[in-house]
Amino acid sequence: MPREYGRDQQPCKDPTLKALILGANGQLGTELKKTVPDGIEFIAHDRATLDIADPKVVHAVISAERPQLVVNAAAYTAVDRAESESEQAFVTNAEGAGHVAIAAAAQGARLVHISTDFVFDGRKSIPYRPDDRTNPQSVYGKSKCEGEERVLAAYPEATVLRTAWLYAAGGRNFVSTMLGLMREGKPLRVVADQVGTPTWARTLAEATWALGLTLSATGIHHWTDAGVASWYDFAVAIQDEAMTLGLLDKPTGITPITTADYPTPAMRPAYSVLDCRVTREAAGLEGRHWRHALAEMLREVKAST
Ligand SMILES: NC(=O)c1ccc[n+]([C@@H]2O[C@H](COP(=O)([O-])OP(=O)(O)OC[C@H]3O[C@@H](n4cnc5c(N)ncnc54)[C@H](OP(=O)(O)O)[C@@H]3O)[C@@H](O)[C@H]2O)c1
Repeated sequence: MPREYGRDQQPCKDPTLKALILGANGQLGTELKKTVPDGIEFIAHDRATLDIADPKVVHAVISAERPQLVVNAAAYTAVDRAESESEQAFVTNAEGAGHVAIAAAAQGARLVHISTDFVFDGRKSIPYRPDDRTNPQSVYGKSKCEGEERVLAAYPEATVLRTAWLYAAGGRNFVSTMLGLMREGKPLRVVADQVGTPTWARTLAEATWALGLTLSATGIHHWTDAGVASWYDFAVAIQDEAMTLGLLDKPTGITPITTADYPTPAMRPAYSVLDCRVTREAAGLEGRHWRHALAEMLREVKAST
C-alpha cells in the first residue's frame, strides 16, 4: 500500500516511484492521496508546507525529495474573488506554476500540472480540443492560461491537464452548496445557459495518475467525466440522486434561469465541454458518465453519515 511521509520520516526501502503532490489538501489533492496506485510512494504538501509562489522553497523541496513525478494541484481557485485579487491569482496560478515547472525540469521529474476549461471563451458549440485557441474571459482564467504557458515554456515535456466543474465530498463546490440549500427547502433558481461537464475529483485523480505514469502523454490534455449538463441539469440530478439515497427528505422547486438573471463578478464560458478523446486513448482510460460518478460520490456521502 502507498503511504504518506514527511521529511522527518524514512521513505520506503525500495519504492518503485516517488510522487510529490502539491495542493494536497484541496479537492483534487485529497482524492489523489486516496487513489495512489500501488508501487507509488508519495509526499504531500499544501500551502502551509510548500507555497508554490516561493521559488526558493519549491526548488529546495523538489531537489531534496527528488520525486520522479510531481502533480501540481495547487491553485488559487476563488473565481469571483480573483476579479478583485488579480495579483494573488497570478502569483499562484501563473508564477507559482512556472516555479514548479522549472524545479521539476531541473530534477528531471515528470510533471502533471492541472488547468481549467476557463482558459476558453465558451463561444464554441462542439467540445473544445486541447489545441483549440485559448481566450480566457476572467482573471482566474487568464492566470491559469498564463500558468499553462509558463509550464510548457519552462518544461515542454510537462503535461498540462485541463478539467472542469470539479466536486468532491468534503469540498466547497456546487454539490455541497446545492445540498445545503436544498436541505433549507428554499426554492432554487439555477443557471441553465452555461453548459459543461460535472467532474468528480475522484475520477480526475485516477486519470491524473494514469497520465502521470504514461511517459508519452506530454503537452496539453483534457479530462472530465463524460456527458454534458447545464448547472440547472446538474442541480436537478443532485436533488434526484439525493432523494433516492435518502440524503434529502423532500424535494424543493428548481427553476432554470439565464446567466443575465444571475450576474457574477467573473465571466464564465457559456460552453466549456472538453474533448477528452486523445487523453482517453493516450492513458488507456474509459471514462464514465457524470451522472454515474455523481451517484457514486453521493453513495459514499450517505455511507459516511
Ligand atoms: N474546482 C473546480 O471546479 C475546477 C475546475 C477546473 C479546474 N480546476 C483546477 O483543478 C485544480 C484543483 O482544483 P481544486 O478544486 O482541487 O482546488 P481547491 O480545492 O481550491 O484546492 C487547491 C489547493 O491549493 C492550495 N493552494 C492555494 N494556493 C497555494 C499556493 N500558493 N501554494 C500551495 N498550495 C496552494 C489551496 O490551499 P488553501 O486552501 O490554503 O488556499 C488548496 O488546498 C486546480 O488547478 C484548479 O485550477 C478546478
